[in-house]
Amino acid sequence: MCGIVGYVGRRPVQELLLQGLRKLEYRGYDSAGISVIAGDEIDSVRAVGNLDALEQAIDGGDGGVALATRPATTGIGHTRWATHGRVSEANAHPHFDTADRIHVVVNGIVENYMALKERLAANGAVFTSETDAEVIAHVVATHFAGDLVEAVRAAYAELEGHFAFVAMSLDDPETLVGVRKECPLIVGRGDGEQFVASAVPAFLAHTRHVQVVENDELVVLRRGGVDLLRPDGTPIERDVVEIDWDEETAEKGGYETFMLKEMYEQADALADTIFDRVARGDGVDLDEEGALDEAILSRARRIVIVACGTSYHAGLIGRYAIETWARLPVEIDIASEYRYRDPVVGPGDLVIGITQSGETADTLAAMRLARERGATVLAVTNVMGSQATRDADGVLFTRAGLEIGVAATKTFTCQVAVMQLLALRLAELRGCLPAERIAELVAGIRRLPSAVAEALERLGPAVDTLAERWWQGDFFLYLGRHVGLPVALEGALKLKEISYISTDAYAAGEMKHGPIALLDEMTPVICVATDSPVLDKVVSNMQEVRARGAHVIAITTEGNDQIAHHAEAILPVPRTDWMLQPILAVLPLQLLAYGIARRRGLNVDQPRNLAKTVTVE
Ligand code: F6R
Repeated sequence: MCGIVGYVGRRPVQELLLQGLRKLEYRGYDSAGISVIAGDEIDSVRAVGNLDALEQAIDGGDGGVALATRPATTGIGHTRWATHGRVSEANAHPHFDTADRIHVVVNGIVENYMALKERLAANGAVFTSETDAEVIAHVVATHFAGDLVEAVRAAYAELEGHFAFVAMSLDDPETLVGVRKECPLIVGRGDGEQFVASAVPAFLAHTRHVQVVENDELVVLRRGGVDLLRPDGTPIERDVVEIDWDEETAEKGGYETFMLKEMYEQADALADTIFDRVARGDGVDLDEEGALDEAILSRARRIVIVACGTSYHAGLIGRYAIETWARLPVEIDIASEYRYRDPVVGPGDLVIGITQSGETADTLAAMRLARERGATVLAVTNVMGSQATRDADGVLFTRAGLEIGVAATKTFTCQVAVMQLLALRLAELRGCLPAERIAELVAGIRRLPSAVAEALERLGPAVDTLAERWWQGDFFLYLGRHVGLPVALEGALKLKEISYISTDAYAAGEMKHGPIALLDEMTPVICVATDSPVLDKVVSNMQEVRARGAHVIAITTEGNDQIAHHAEAILPVPRTDWMLQPILAVLPLQLLAYGIARRRGLNVDQPRNLAKTVTVE
């Protein structure tokens, strides 16, 4: 997730771009840059680090260009959250074509960038970065014949993926052209000036008149006005609306909290995490920069997963996937236990440390211990340049974007997706699954982002009813079996950490060995009862719960109406392959925890006693 901003008007653009980027820094902050049209040249400055580093570079420090001396009124800016390519000045945006006449800022992923890059390079294009984004500048340049709109339209037809970008040309200096394909882009309308950005905060100080850009639309900004176009060039009429958000609301994209915003970002985060890794359609491609050599993956004799908290729950789901699909034995442990139990680990073992922050002390210690003993270590993390990336032999990134809410939501679903992709790749390398089954699972994984979007859209009213009914409860029990068990564990953790309600989560089959004593007429019991080979067993457990007078709330698969007979309330999620179901089944549990915590008047973004990054033991 990155932040992009553009301006065309009469005011000095540099300060406006920097102000805009400051307001987008929450979207990513590992490097930043701006390009402005200054007379007959484009001045561009990029810097690694936060915006202070960029400002310093602009002021002429670190060999930077003193942009302030060159008046400019058209420009684009970017704050980066690295996905493809390491954090470096060369990989920071804006990117430019070989002749340095077209500059672009991009948010998202160009899935077919490798094919495009090879073709462009063969025709003489000179690439200066490792990013997928740079191809956009070169593709636009190949189509440019004096009209930026036409060039961007032609380029758009060649690009696959999900992205938003804004392009600027020295040869059409008072025009910006933006494109939206899945990733956000919004226009701010001014008097004789226009803004475009990833989000409203970037221009809120200057205008409250906004125009939404929808998917598969182009937007052309000139001083005097804005045109919206379909990719075939036909114009679109769209009202300009006035918003009454304050700055904080704007930063949260209109959501009341970061956590809510992040839950609703899950479809996009998953698309970023998944799509280019399943681009070939019938298999999984993890042969990417920083990842482990596939020969090492093929040689692994045993997998050990170490993690804490929510990341541990993602690891549990990963274990089922690896064992079921790749037929490799998997051991999983909480990192703080693993590091002190003198584990039997060494050469031949592949140890996977899952940590969204990449800085959790216990997980890092467990990874280091395993590495010292000769194991190969793979990090699954959301943060480029984090310590986990340095303590591992290879890295697979989740691409959830910055998560500000302390309770992990979108990073969790992306971790699960990465573990499922890894499990499938291992299965392919080991020849454990028939090609048809792999293709079927890949198709299921590709559909997950849209299924998540559907589920989030539909679940609201049912979750609200339940939150209203139960927000004063003082204990919740969560039950699940097989891949439903980690979902239950995660649901219980979410509720406990943001609502401070006591929860317990158990393997449903274990309930009769103790927890059943907790049940009475006041107890809500959340059962993960999505379709699976163990569903009948879960239904038996639901009956045991009801027989004690407790209240069953079941997470079910849409279309399976039978389960409703065994529950007081149901929260259905879209159907998918049962092994992929956790990513969908956890959504109602996140929303329910949220609904209850908000009704209790709590600060869900910063729950008491918790920290986003736990760098102490
Ligand atoms: C819960 C939560 C924590 C983290 C745990 C590990 O919502 O966020 O349980 O999952 O502290 O953090 P990372 O993944 O950064 O290692």
